[in-house]
Amino acid sequence: MSRLGMFLSWGVSVLCLLLLSWEVRPSAAHIPPHNETARVARYVAHKCDWGALATISSHEPVRGQPFANVFSVSDGPRGQSSGVLYFYLTTMEISVQDLQLNANASLTMSLAQTPYCRHEHYDPQSPLCAHIILSGSVVKVADTETDTAKLALFTRHPEMSSWPRDHNWFFAKFNITNIWVLDYFGGIKAVTPEEYYQAKP
Ligand SMILES: *[C@@H]1O[C@H](CO)[C@@H](O)[C@H](O)[C@H]1NC(C)=O
Ligand SMILES: *[C@@H]1O[C@H](CO)[C@@H](O)[C@H](O)[C@H]1NC(C)=O
Ligand SMILES: *[C@@H]1O[C@H](CO)[C@@H](O)[C@H](O)[C@H]1NC(C)=O
Repeated sequence: MSRLGMFLSWGVSVLCLLLLSWEVRPSAAHIPPHNETARVARYVAHKCDWGALATISSHEPVRGQPFANVFSVSDGPRGQSSGVLYFYLTTMEISVQDLQLNANASLTMSLAQTPYCRHEHYDPQSPLCAHIILSGSVVKVADTETDTAKLALFTRHPEMSSWPRDHNWFFAKFNITNIWVLDYFGGIKAVTPEEYYQAKP
């Protein structure tokens, strides 16, 4: 190989490595600034594939007490955030049985679920590791909305399409009444559902 050829192939390798490291770096630049709280809420809601959902337990020995459990969620295919958090549920599930008696619930999601916080050396409890807390209820989606819910969930959770057919799965969504954001020092910040849905993620 000529000297020029070697130099060129070396250059191409270095360029590829640079592009690769750029690609895998979970860039802080994409997180909206902390003074744009509604956008941060939308960002976290879209980045996370799951959340912890707290219901009021209907089961002994903790009947009437909070009960937190993991659920897969999606607010739309990657890059197509709607802000509406969809679930794929069955009444065979313990928390869903709680919801049948009391649909009120709280859902929390954190960038600790993405590579971001570890990369930035933010502990999950640090406010800098942005997280959101939603309050509201879990409601079954109308027939007109099932296609949207299915697209949102199945694109991000492909395994769902092969979950046991006899479990009577149905699509639901989180009916948000209150939103809180922790993404910076100075205490928790409230965002209204209107601000949240209108924000550009
Ligand atoms: C947030 O702060 C940046 C500058 O740090 C400013 O350009 C932007 O307008 C601010 N956004 C809001 C919604 O206040
Ligand atoms: C659910 O929460 C609402 C407040 O948003 C309250 O009015 C209602 O009574 C609660 N429902 C139950 C079953 O506790
Ligand atoms: C969503 O929650 C609000 C406030 O609790 C309630 O008024 C409304 O009926 C709920 N929507 C659905 C579809 O259940």
